[in-house]
Amino acid sequence: MNSIKHVAIIMDGNGRWGIKHKKSRNLGHKEGLKTVEKIIKTTIKNKIKYLTLYAFSTENWKRPKKEINFLFNLLENFLLNKISDLNKQNIKLKIIGKKNFSIKLTKLLNSSEKKTSQNKRLQINLALNYGSKNEIINALNIIKKNKLKINESNISKNLFTKNTPDPDILIRTGNTKRLSNFLLWQLAYSEIFFEKKLWPDFNEKDYFKILNNFKKIKRNFGNI
Ligand code: FPP
Repeated sequence: MNSIKHVAIIMDGNGRWGIKHKKSRNLGHKEGLKTVEKIIKTTIKNKIKYLTLYAFSTENWKRPKKEINFLFNLLENFLLNKISDLNKQNIKLKIIGKKNFSIKLTKLLNSSEKKTSQNKRLQINLALNYGSKNEIINALNIIKKNKLKINESNISKNLFTKNTPDPDILIRTGNTKRLSNFLLWQLAYSEIFFEKKLWPDFNEKDYFKILNNFKKIKRNFGNI
C-alpha cells in the first residue's frame, strides 16, 4: 500500500457554490474556509505531513477588486484568530508564492510563518499569489545568478516548495479538469483526482475515499 506524505489541493468551486446557495460569490469563499478547517483535521488524522492549498493564483488578480479584498480579509481574520491554535496543534505554516501584498498582510504572513516554523506535525503550504511558471523562472534565475548547473536537483531546491517532497496526490474539486498553473514541476508523478463536488461541499468522507483509492494504486514512476 502506498504511503501518503503530501496532498495538494486546488480548492475550486467557491464562487459557484456561493451564487447557488447565497446569491454571493464571497459567501462561497467564506463557506470554503470551513472546508479548509475540516480538511486540515482529516489530514492530521491520517498522519500526512504536508498539505498544499491553492488559495490565490497570480491570475486571480484579474477578479473584481471587491472579491479580492474579501478573500484577503478572510485570510487576515483566519490568521489573526487561528494561528495560535495552529501553533498549539504543532502545525507549521509556509507561504508559497510571491509575497507582494500590503505591508500589514506581509507582516502578518511573516509572523505567522515565524511563530510556527519549528512545528513538525503537519506543514501547510498556503499558495498565495502563486503561479508555477513564475516559480520555475524564479528558480532558474537563482541558478543563473549563483552560476549553478541547470539540473533537476538544483531546480527543485530553488522552488518555493524546497524541502517538501513532491505531492503524492493532487485533488481538484469543482468539476474542472485542468492544472491552472499549479505545481507544474512538482506534479510530474502525482496521482490526480478530479472531484465533481464544489469545494464547500467537499467533506471528510470524500477526502477519505480519495486517500483510500490512492493507497491501492500501483505507482510505476515510468517502470513496469
Ligand atoms: C477557487 O474557487 C477558490 C479560490 C480562488 C479561493 C480559495 C479560498 C478559500 C478556499 C477560502 C479562503 C482560504 C483561506 C486559507 C483563507 P472559485 O472562486 O474559482 O470558484 P468558481 O470556479 O466556482 O468561480
